[in-house]
Amino acid sequence: MTEIPEHLLKRSRERRSSIGQGDDTAEASGAPATTPATTAPAAASPAAASAGGGPPARTVASPPSPAEAPKPDPVHVAAAKRRRKIPFWAMATLSLMPVWGFMYVRSITESTEVAHGPIGDGAEVYNSCASCHGASGDGGVGYAFSGGSVLDTFPNIEDQIRFVYYGTEGYNSEGVDIYGSPDRPGGVHITGDQGVMPAFGTQLHEEEIVAVVCHERYTIAGADPTSDEWAEEFEAWCSAESPIYEGLGTGELQLTTSEQEMLGEVPFNPIGQAPIPGSSG
Ligand code: HEC
Repeated sequence: MTEIPEHLLKRSRERRSSIGQGDDTAEASGAPATTPATTAPAAASPAAASAGGGPPARTVASPPSPAEAPKPDPVHVAAAKRRRKIPFWAMATLSLMPVWGFMYVRSITESTEVAHGPIGDGAEVYNSCASCHGASGDGGVGYAFSGGSVLDTFPNIEDQIRFVYYGTEGYNSEGVDIYGSPDRPGGVHITGDQGVMPAFGTQLHEEEIVAVVCHERYTIAGADPTSDEWAEEFEAWCSAESPIYEGLGTGELQLTTSEQEMLGEVPFNPIGQAPIPGSSG
């Protein structure tokens, strides 16, 4: 409840008593009053009589009593009145929101579609590598892939696929010490030097291994698919039209077969059935 300030109450009391004195004159001159019918001198009021005893039809200038004094607005109404109104031009802007929302959602859906192929799929598979190699490939338990480092270790993509497939223990049990390039700039990487890289040949589909390796080489390490150095590899293994990736997906090709096959003009070098030392560029 809002308290009515004392001076207002006082003023209203004064006014009421002055009206009370001149009550008869007010009634006689037809000045309307909202005093309830029960307390009003009904007989003296022609209006009340004609209304058949109903509530007096006197509703205009009411003599204020404490109960009838114009009430201050309740807090929430007052707040609503104080609140700034939305400017008219904002309505135009707001009415465009659904259009904007529609276009926004569509732009997201389209970008997911564009991200198909080994590179896009590889970004998802990479979630199983990020805990050790870092979300952006900056390294952690395992080596960093960024800054071209993984390209230095594996100038040939087949060597990288093979290492991910068989892991540190596969190479150890075959006695292979250098899984990457023997001419690696900055020094060779020795099997087991940094810990144990799990074998993913039993955990991922073959095309998933290819996809994640493509992601590491082209997205994380930054190989340029249009450059002379990488264009051929990219077209064969990592492009959206890669015949190798498609063949692995349909089961027509296997990573571990031993012979080299030709897919049209594209040579397919399988990784073989056991780890072998890595090759230089
Ligand atoms: C449990 C931790 C762990 C996980 C998970 C992991 N790795 Fe590794 N990775 C390692 C370690 C440790 C090494 C170093 C291995 C060694 O010294 O023999 C390594 C090395 C590598 C290398 C060689 C890099 C170089 O430059 O020498 C590649 C490529 C690689 N990992 C790819 C992957 C991929 C792809 C995945 C996910 C599918 C993955 N790793 C998941 C720990 C991990």
